[in-house]
Amino acid sequence: MLSLKGHRVLITGGLGFIGSNLAHKCLQLGAQVTIFDCLDPRSGGNLFNIHDIRGSVELVHQDIQDFSSVCQHICDKTIIFNCAASTSHPFSMREPWIDLDVNSRGVVNLLEAIRRFNRQCCFIHLGTSTQLGKLQTSIADEKHPEFPTDIYSANKCVSEKYVLIYAKSYGINTSVIRLSNVFGPRASIHSADFTFNNYFVGLAFQNKDITVYGQGEQIRNVIYVDDAVAAIIMAAQNAKANGETFFAVGDEHFSVAQIAEATVKHIGSGRVKYIEWPKSRKAIEVGNAFISNKKIKEYLEWKPMDTLESGLLKTKAFYEKSLQEYLR
Ligand SMILES: NC(=O)c1ccc[n+]([C@@H]2O[C@H](COP(=O)([O-])OP(=O)(O)OC[C@H]3O[C@@H](n4cnc5c(N)ncnc54)[C@H](O)[C@@H]3O)[C@@H](O)[C@H]2O)c1
Repeated sequence: MLSLKGHRVLITGGLGFIGSNLAHKCLQLGAQVTIFDCLDPRSGGNLFNIHDIRGSVELVHQDIQDFSSVCQHICDKTIIFNCAASTSHPFSMREPWIDLDVNSRGVVNLLEAIRRFNRQCCFIHLGTSTQLGKLQTSIADEKHPEFPTDIYSANKCVSEKYVLIYAKSYGINTSVIRLSNVFGPRASIHSADFTFNNYFVGLAFQNKDITVYGQGEQIRNVIYVDDAVAAIIMAAQNAKANGETFFAVGDEHFSVAQIAEATVKHIGSGRVKYIEWPKSRKAIEVGNAFISNKKIKEYLEWKPMDTLESGLLKTKAFYEKSLQEYLR
């Protein structure tokens, strides 16, 4: 990754899992970092995520739904990474209006602020592989049609389109990185509402049962957070990313059962238990997800550096020192 010296970076959602890891990396690369986050109690934000860099970043406790505040903080930045989102699939089904307000309207606020006050900046937005819904081809790439099965993923689809419209219509330098099952340090590991593999890590650390629905045969793609962060930064540093959408997903594909078993093995405790599918989960389940990372490899020369095993070992080392901060 190239240096970010001289860059003024805004990270919305910078107290969350991916945003805080991104903040650490941007600082390491020499950027001046501002975190813009409302610490939404329904998301994975955690002040502890930045305890070690608190003195080196500016923290703005604000909401992306507040347009004037967004305008105020966007205008002098060179790169804006949008990691703010209402991130729970089940919550989006229970409270669709909240999801709509944050994940769609909030993104329009950011784009409109950029259009009015800072067209020179680079804007990187995060999408999700679940935008695709049930795959129609055995392996999916960025051209695969989108049929999301939950409200969160639907709003992620539409917000991605807003980003691409602003790129095309106003020449704003943007790209979208779609992620899938990111795991690692600084994640929300105490709630089944967020990424399942981080929840598995939390259960294993507490020596609890990891409950897998059915036989856990559905295939998933997992990616260690440092690799996701590298993809996000590389998109901001390469003009080829402009106006493009990329899947930044790992090379490896595993069944949910394999991920659960690997978590128990590498964290060193916990048990895998197989239970019947709850109705609400079955309804939004997307089946096997084989996703290709060919495009991002070709365009940005990015490649994942960690495996499930090496990522889990690094994850273990992190939470061993700070577990209590992530279980409340
Ligand atoms: N974690 C994954 O596996 C994964 C997979 C696919 C896509 N993504 C996307 O990556 C991005 C970051 O996800 P994450 O896992 O870090 O989530 P997270 O829940 O850990 O972090 C989200 C952050 O956004 C903040 N936030 C929520 N609403 C806000 C608002 N209205 N204004 C300002 N801040 C707000 C929260 O306080 C939190 O700190 C999201 O766009 C998510 O959809 C994540």
